[in-house]
Amino acid sequence: MKYLFRNAMVITMNSEMEILENCDVVVKDDRIVYVGKAKPENAEHSKVIDCTRKLLMPGLINGHTHVPMTLLRNYADDKELQTWLFDYIFPAEEKLEGRDVYYGSLLGIMEMLASGTTCFIDMYFFMDDIAEAVEKSGIRAHLSRGVSTNDRGSDFSDHKGLNESIEFYKKWNGVACGRITGAFGPHAIYTCSPEFLKAVRNAAEKLGAPIHVHLDETRTEHEDSLRNFGKTPAKHLYDLGLFDLKTIAAHCVWVTPDDIALLREKDVTVAHNPGSNLKLASGIAPVPEMIEAGVNVILGTDGASSNNNLNMFEEINLAALIQKGVKLDPLLVNAQEALKMATVNGGKALGRKDLGSIKPGNKADLILLDLDKPHMNPLNKPCSALAYSAQAADVCLTMVDGRILYRDGEFKTIDQEKVYYQIQKICRRILN
Ligand code: NI
Repeated sequence: MKYLFRNAMVITMNSEMEILENCDVVVKDDRIVYVGKAKPENAEHSKVIDCTRKLLMPGLINGHTHVPMTLLRNYADDKELQTWLFDYIFPAEEKLEGRDVYYGSLLGIMEMLASGTTCFIDMYFFMDDIAEAVEKSGIRAHLSRGVSTNDRGSDFSDHKGLNESIEFYKKWNGVACGRITGAFGPHAIYTCSPEFLKAVRNAAEKLGAPIHVHLDETRTEHEDSLRNFGKTPAKHLYDLGLFDLKTIAAHCVWVTPDDIALLREKDVTVAHNPGSNLKLASGIAPVPEMIEAGVNVILGTDGASSNNNLNMFEEINLAALIQKGVKLDPLLVNAQEALKMATVNGGKALGRKDLGSIKPGNKADLILLDLDKPHMNPLNKPCSALAYSAQAADVCLTMVDGRILYRDGEFKTIDQEKVYYQIQKICRRILN
């Protein structure tokens, strides 16, 4: 299939951060093949999408989430973290079955597609069901089976989660035309013993798989680590060799300057989740310090039960605002930096130069925003408009791998009514 996006304003997110006006973009099969002002040849053979008064940009990459947690949205809010987890979330999750996770994932994917996300980085369980939802919907995802145990043994060959991780990686990595990639997901240092973390690391290394882990999310985690291991959570993982593998570390709220140097040294990507960190009162990550040190920082929503949505435009906005507010410095995390975190830095985190920017040869993962909205007028500086005034509902088209998956309120690959019906049924069962 060949598409011609005609006459768009294009936010390329390329290294020069070029913004092109009255621009044509041609997509052939799964790739962008042309970006430029001149009318491309053979245009008459393409499906033409008129982009007058529309803005075209790379699809957003949600750097950390637990997509089926849409099922637990608006269920337990305004609670202490421990109460929230142990009295509400874990008991509900105990009742989950594979098909619940499948429909919860489809719901989350619908929400992401409608708000401009084309790729998400996830950690959960019943991963086959999530992968199936990704395959069916057409979105792109980086998936890891979350695993944990505080057992201090040395042999974890019978560990159910770890064995599932290995099987999942072998079965799904590179599947769905490469839209699905796999990783290993040791949950966190407070839910995984050092011995288990090492076992997960070694299993991942054997397969050449990357790591996705929660790190230094709360002050309690940080202080417990100092008490139990005599070092910070980041140093703990560094010493265990986790960071020798390609790693995405979610949160990093309490990292020290020394930790930041370690993250930089090992090219660890940090997934910043400002909405979740605020809602759970975890704190505010030292993002400007990490950027300054050259750490690759991406943006995530975290699960919908601690956010309570999967809206990346909200995270872009929060990422740009909260540093200014708490550090009393309006120059921190400017609009362009916040947009990079949600796009091109996400591509980097996945080791993909062909994701996160609009240029010939890249994957055709892109979105269109309608500029015919009061809050987008006057547009003036497009990057500022995207970081400070855009709304998720401005997204009018979402394309992944050259396929239009969402357009003008309509999902092309997902039966919306069926998903809502199933979700109601599931919630009646698990939230009682
Ligand atoms: Ni998380």
